Amino acid sequence: MTITDITVAEPSSAEPTATVTASVAPAPVRAALRGTIGELPVGTTLRQTVVVPTYNERDNVEALLERLAAALPADDTEIIFVDDSTDDTPAVIASLQETCPIPVTVLHREHATGGLGGAVVEGMRAARGEWIVVMDADLQHPPSVVPTLIAAGRRDGADLVVGSRYAGGGSSRAGLDGGYRRLVSGGSTLFTKVIFRNNLIQVSDPMSGLFAIRTSSLETEELRPLGYKILLELIVRNRPGRIVEVPYAFQPRHAGESKSSLSEGFRFLKHLAILRFGAKRARMLVFAMIGVSGLLPNQAALWFLHAVLGVHYVPAAIVANLVAVGWNFALTDTLLYRDRRQHRSFAGRFSRFFVLGNADLLLRVPLLALLVSGLHIGVLIANLLTLLISFVVRFLILDGLIYKARRP
Ligand code: GDD
Ligand code: MN
Repeated sequence: MTITDITVAEPSSAEPTATVTASVAPAPVRAALRGTIGELPVGTTLRQTVVVPTYNERDNVEALLERLAAALPADDTEIIFVDDSTDDTPAVIASLQETCPIPVTVLHREHATGGLGGAVVEGMRAARGEWIVVMDADLQHPPSVVPTLIAAGRRDGADLVVGSRYAGGGSSRAGLDGGYRRLVSGGSTLFTKVIFRNNLIQVSDPMSGLFAIRTSSLETEELRPLGYKILLELIVRNRPGRIVEVPYAFQPRHAGESKSSLSEGFRFLKHLAILRFGAKRARMLVFAMIGVSGLLPNQAALWFLHAVLGVHYVPAAIVANLVAVGWNFALTDTLLYRDRRQHRSFAGRFSRFFVLGNADLLLRVPLLALLVSGLHIGVLIANLLTLLISFVVRFLILDGLIYKARRP
């Protein structure tokens, strides 16, 4: 990450004491443990840091800063923008630093790794507040709620305070324009609550983009942010002990447009699968679904060649297998290993995949003979066994060799 630090006032970050004590920092303690409430983690010098991810929000930052300045004490607060914009948002923020009483920092990232969630974690790493408040830049989250979040966290000895649209007194109607967005939002919230019911017992709005975390309860090294749902990531991986909620009314966007899109929706599904199963098992699941989908072109090609064109079933089955291998390659290469493609040329990936897909037959046919003739297992069961064995072997070769993960 390249940091374009346009800070005006950076009072204590250069003080040597902070780095010296950081090396002997105790393990983070949770507020919910007896006697640890109020214990200050090393490096915190302010009451609160407000972290705001921005992607092309040039027309919102002025109003946001004005309202934050009206709501929070300037001498105990800092605001960190983590920006992935392609417009002049960082320059607009820089021009407001002079007039804003609260110290403002902008970290502009060259690569938007992890999207919104990745940006938030970058901001958390730079934060010096005892509390870190995360909020959107578009004023859908009212700045006047920020002090309430922190007051609630302090009063209740909480690790995490969630701004909730669904707790009593909160509302989502104004901010979610149209029945379609409400349906998607409500449906995905319910789905997520079912999948992570143990983690989310205390949380009515796990998709919220507005929350406050006690810095001593935060372990950023544990986080693997991916897209919008950084709160969910935080709850599942950091397991904050005590969570409280503060209701708020989700507002309409001040200016500009939402950045969420269909591809953000797919990223969310991927995030859910990784959080639930772990990265490797999530990939294996997708590989299995691609494999199952390959049965369709396989059967269709076999039917066309054999039944329509009258080709003998053995060559027809071999060609059908080739069609399925092509189908599987297209999906695996574009959906599953999109991020690892650059390590190998197209020809290199395709030829290896092709060999693997057909070597499958070399493995399965003798294995089938062994199971059926040698062990007297029924043909259908034996065929299924060879498919399963071949599936696992092919996945391991694919994942560990052909699309081997490498550091960029
Ligand atoms: N740095 C960075 N990088 N910021 C981003 C990125 C990115 O890739 N994508 C979006 N943002 C910023 C936006 O500029 C905005 O400040 C904030 O993240 C939220 O983006 P919106 O585009 O306004 O999202 P939304 O209104 O559709 O969704 C919000 O509400 C949802 C609840 O309905 C977010 O808070 C979601 O997390 C939340 O689930
Ligand atoms: Mn928004």
